[in-house]
Amino acid sequence: MKKIAIFTSGGDSPGMNACIRAAVRTAMFNGVEVVGIERGFSGMINNEFINLNSRSVSNIVQRGGTILKTARSKEFMTAEGRKKAHENIIAHGVEGLICIGGNGSFTGAKTLFEEYGIPCIGAPGTIDNDLYGTDFTIGFDTAVNTAVEAIDKIRDTADSHDRVFFIEVMGRNSGYIALAAGIAGGAESILIPESAEDWHKMIDLFTGEHRSKKAFTIVIVAEGEEHGGAIQIVEHLKSIKSDFEARVTILGHIQRGGSPSAYDRVLASRLGNAAVEALLRGETNKMAGLRNNLVVLTPFDDAINKVKHLNPDLLRLVDVFNC
Ligand code: F6P
Repeated sequence: MKKIAIFTSGGDSPGMNACIRAAVRTAMFNGVEVVGIERGFSGMINNEFINLNSRSVSNIVQRGGTILKTARSKEFMTAEGRKKAHENIIAHGVEGLICIGGNGSFTGAKTLFEEYGIPCIGAPGTIDNDLYGTDFTIGFDTAVNTAVEAIDKIRDTADSHDRVFFIEVMGRNSGYIALAAGIAGGAESILIPESAEDWHKMIDLFTGEHRSKKAFTIVIVAEGEEHGGAIQIVEHLKSIKSDFEARVTILGHIQRGGSPSAYDRVLASRLGNAAVEALLRGETNKMAGLRNNLVVLTPFDDAINKVKHLNPDLLRLVDVFNC
């Protein structure tokens, strides 16, 4: 392989730049030319290819966001869009792809391989940590730290006023951020889509006969929680207990930005390096991930379709610490 292309796709995550840097430098180290594709699949279709070299990725290891920009492309879901993308890939002499993204991005890369035979290796870039085949995704650790910093601040004011706070964190379909941030932030209750019991325990915490005697209470809600977001849940509690009072904070996109943690930088560097080395070895349709601190490759099919189950030990801790 003489030339490869790197792109970021889907929601950005802190550490994507460190991964781009690692991938570019691994390619250069191996004498392979590299181009970047801006705005993911959308840039592939619109011919937004830029030359990259070791110097173009200087001073980005510490930066949040992605220097290659990112997008979610509807056009790539059409056969016509993918045909244009393939024509541009060929026109630039690109023989293989590195895709840094999540589920949807790997699905797109897999389709491109099936239709046009363009090999691709992925690196898991999403704050949600919801990809099978890696213990951690790039950006998750930073997002959790951002959430915990915010929870600590809210605790101060919750304590001063003896208030109940519901704090909503990201996680489209998963409770990884909520669970980690909730335990690290000392939450009394954590509501996640993966658990049904957590809902009943939370209702009991505020309305049951053993209700909490604590002066202030922090509840963490994953945005993918089946009973709704933090606002709807507080409304529901008011409907069953008219004097119920709580403040709501939705942390939102601040969790996606900021300088990546040291953990995310190391993870991104290892996976960016491994992805390029795998592509150059002739591997395709796989995601480089970290399991038990070892870099492993997982087929896209498994990364996309298999469910990464939450560690039940962590769920248990919430109950133990809430005695
Ligand atoms: O997948 C990452 C994520 O941040 C989810 O946690 C969240 O639901 C979604 O992206 C938000 O997407 P957007 O930036 O398009 O609003």
